[in-house]
Amino acid sequence: MLPGLQRPLLAALLYLLPGGLSRLPGYSNGFHYQDISNGNGNGEIYFNGVRLHVESPQHSVSATRGSSVTLPCHYHYEPELNTPRRTRVKWSWLPANTATAPVTPEAIARETEVMVAMGNRHRSYGSFRGRVRLRRSVPGDMSLVINELQLNDTGRYRCEVIDGLEDDSVTVELELRGVVFPYFSQKGRYHFNFFGAQQACQDQDATLATFEQLYAAWEEGLDWCNAGWLADGTVQYPITAPRDGCGGVDLAPGLRSYGQRHRLLHSYDAFCFSASVKGTVYFLKQRTRLNFTEAVQACSRDGSQISRVGQMFTAWKLTGLDRCDAGWLADGSVRYPITKPRDNCGPPEPGVRSFGFPPPYLKFGVYCYR
Ligand SMILES: *[C@@H]1O[C@H](CO)[C@@H](O)[C@H](O)[C@H]1NC(C)=O
Ligand SMILES: *[C@@H]1O[C@H](CO)[C@@H](O)[C@H](O)[C@H]1NC(C)=O
Repeated sequence: MLPGLQRPLLAALLYLLPGGLSRLPGYSNGFHYQDISNGNGNGEIYFNGVRLHVESPQHSVSATRGSSVTLPCHYHYEPELNTPRRTRVKWSWLPANTATAPVTPEAIARETEVMVAMGNRHRSYGSFRGRVRLRRSVPGDMSLVINELQLNDTGRYRCEVIDGLEDDSVTVELELRGVVFPYFSQKGRYHFNFFGAQQACQDQDATLATFEQLYAAWEEGLDWCNAGWLADGTVQYPITAPRDGCGGVDLAPGLRSYGQRHRLLHSYDAFCFSASVKGTVYFLKQRTRLNFTEAVQACSRDGSQISRVGQMFTAWKLTGLDRCDAGWLADGSVRYPITKPRDNCGPPEPGVRSFGFPPPYLKFGVYCYR
């Protein structure tokens, strides 16, 4: 392996490879490069004014849940090199809602590793393990391919290329197309601490929304006068029509923020984010109305499952589901989706109408998901 390298250099190289032969004490992130030399393969260092450039043609990429996405990143040298240098690439990730913050040393310290690669060897980490690879379509192509995108993959990705003498990086933001919806507990308003809110969104096939996602929803007209948790642990709510009781009439439209709240002790609602998945939500054809127990069974008999709230919102927002019939959903709420507002189907704006959580013996239709 690695012929032609002097032993100290070889040791240094192995040190770079997470899980490599030498896991030295003090190993931190598998990405030390202070000691490494570069050049003709004999451990000789030379410096000739060559500059490494790392670039991306796209600073933000938008994708759909479950799909694959490529985050572009290329490097080249100026002037061009005749002999290629040994480079390492590290992709790291800063979860969303810090994505628009400046790239400060503190922010970089909070990044988590996605993948580290050197030569043909690479290693991926955490929930990215087995889902990421480098595209390598042309020399210098270090674009990251992520498969089976998950709702919580959004955020800022940093592509860092290091060759021992030079180090440069570029960031690419990943957004998912989806829908933000406010969510509150069956027990009533303001019943979730942060962890309860996280769980509640997950139970509805969603994840806590990021600041960017809530902001985008507000830009599209979301107006909601109850405060909810976001993924970063802040509590906020979106107001398009300022009014008393919702921050007051003097405050401009926007997101009203309570800032960071205590994740265990403080209780609010949640803002969840969900995105398209394969599958459809449909109103089950039934001759009679059903109580909640019967509704769950009816979907099951139809070879599907009672729809979760995130699936209903996704179907409404992304596939235009429109049905003026109230139906049970998995959390025991009753709702219906309207994309073309009309008489007797709720307010003049499109939306998923909610009857809250009626007693389970009351009879309605049901929305199933398959
Ligand atoms: C993201 O979501 C997946 C699937 O729900 C979960 O397994 C993973 O732990 C989550 N990752 C983070 C960083 O929260
Ligand atoms: C729904 O109706 C069935 C009878 O069809 C009954 O056995 C069940 O207890 C009812 N469930 C609720 C929650 O009222």
